[in-house]
Amino acid sequence: TIKILMDTDPGIDDAAALTMAINDPNIDLKLITTVAGNVTVDKTTINALKIVRFFNQDIPVAAGAEQPLFKDFEDAARIHGASGMPGYEFPTDLPTPLHKTAVEALHDEIMASADPITLVPTGSYTNIALLFSEYPEVKSHIDRIVAMGGALGKGNMTSAAEFNVFTDPDAAAIVYKSGIPIVMVGLDITMKALLTHDSIQELPKISETGKMLHDIIINDGDNSDAGIAMHDVNTIFYLLHPEAIKTEDMWIDVVTDGPAIGETVGDIRGAYHDGKTNAKVSVDIDAAAFNKWFLEEVRAIKN
Ligand code: BDR
Ligand code: CA
Repeated sequence: TIKILMDTDPGIDDAAALTMAINDPNIDLKLITTVAGNVTVDKTTINALKIVRFFNQDIPVAAGAEQPLFKDFEDAARIHGASGMPGYEFPTDLPTPLHKTAVEALHDEIMASADPITLVPTGSYTNIALLFSEYPEVKSHIDRIVAMGGALGKGNMTSAAEFNVFTDPDAAAIVYKSGIPIVMVGLDITMKALLTHDSIQELPKISETGKMLHDIIINDGDNSDAGIAMHDVNTIFYLLHPEAIKTEDMWIDVVTDGPAIGETVGDIRGAYHDGKTNAKVSVDIDAAAFNKWFLEEVRAIKN
């Protein structure tokens, strides 16, 4: 099994990513930390707890940063709704979050682990950047970071920037300079592997889990006739099926100000960084395989 910690801002696609990570037997999700992003951190924390409660798990949840390191916080409630996870009535008797911050919880979990750990951020990277500055010793205990965010091509917040990196570009710059191997799961593949409307219509026929996913996914403000992007779920798909995603090694720099703020600049020609690389960048995906896998994952969940 792959031991992971997820840092997340649920968020419709985050909720789907958590669903897969919680239930897939090949993944061992040890900790969920939350961050401000799609909505404020009090809401992303409640949403993470709702998913944990829905599956009757006791995976700990720790609340993290309320705002980016330096930049002003701007949410994405226009896409994910005021609550961040609209459309389904979750149980209201939620577990309580840990009495420690995301940074403390991440530090404790990483340092206590005997096995290599994969960090999976699906929101902005504020907590991770704070973790690295406060506890640099954790870095050598992290195997890799598989992060949703960024784009070589066009952004979804500005022409240049993807939302998670745009939200906290200074944090993203710290993470890309950390020296830890990073897999960039960006818009170049997530906008290709849309969950089709046919797949979405299948979901409620499968189970209550399928209905829950269906009911929240159809509220995603960013949809088209071709389907709905499940950005964050691609991180979990990559962990389980790396063969379905093509990556290229390159150096990623993050732009931290000016009109391209939040852009992830890939040194595609190897010219700027003399062929040195800091990331595996996802450049292509088998979209049909993603849809098939998504439904199979939901079918394999008991409730
Ligand atoms: C990213 O932005 C958020 O709105 C999604 O949850 C995803 O993490 C896509 O750009
Ligand atoms: Ca997210």
